[in-house]
Amino acid sequence: MFTLPLLPYSTTAFGDLISVETFEYHHGKHHKSYVDKANKLVAEDEALAGKSLVELILSAKGGLFNQVGQIWNHSFYWLCLSPEAKTPGGKLAEMIASQFGSHAKLLEKLKEEATGHFGSGWTALLIDGERLQVKSYHDADCPVKHGDTPLLILDVWEHAYYVDYRNNRAAHIEAILDKAIDWDFVALNLDRKGTERADQKG
Ligand SMILES: [Fe+2]
Repeated sequence: MFTLPLLPYSTTAFGDLISVETFEYHHGKHHKSYVDKANKLVAEDEALAGKSLVELILSAKGGLFNQVGQIWNHSFYWLCLSPEAKTPGGKLAEMIASQFGSHAKLLEKLKEEATGHFGSGWTALLIDGERLQVKSYHDADCPVKHGDTPLLILDVWEHAYYVDYRNNRAAHIEAILDKAIDWDFVALNLDRKGTERADQKG
């Protein structure tokens, strides 16, 4: 059974940037619905019993893939947000500076990608070898499906912003990127990837 993860902050923590109502719908209804539907589909098929979320993402098609992809994407997305303003530090900051020119230029690139992505989906900052990469995914598609390693993911589905920003996706993305990203979590994901590679070499 999959469960809806608790949010790592209060639903009031972001003020007007992300309203309580948005969290109530986005986490409490949309994300919960993906969890409930995935559990129902798995319960109906004995061959799927005991499979992990990642195993299902890699093997499922159609309706089940949409649910499990969205579970993974949303669970990761909540961890990418922070009510405290943060900035990248350490190795992450160095990589951003050398590959994009500056933190501001990376934010511009992410804003352009997320705002320009047609329809529903996700925009991610990935680590590919030693290179940072910005990439988008349509609908419920998920970095895990492609063997990609995300450091940060942005939800560009309308349900992420319609309550607070109506149809203005650009304003939502700009606000989130400028004021609500947990760059410590992004850096942690970069470190974890480094650790995995070190383990593989050993
Ligand atoms: Fe969402």
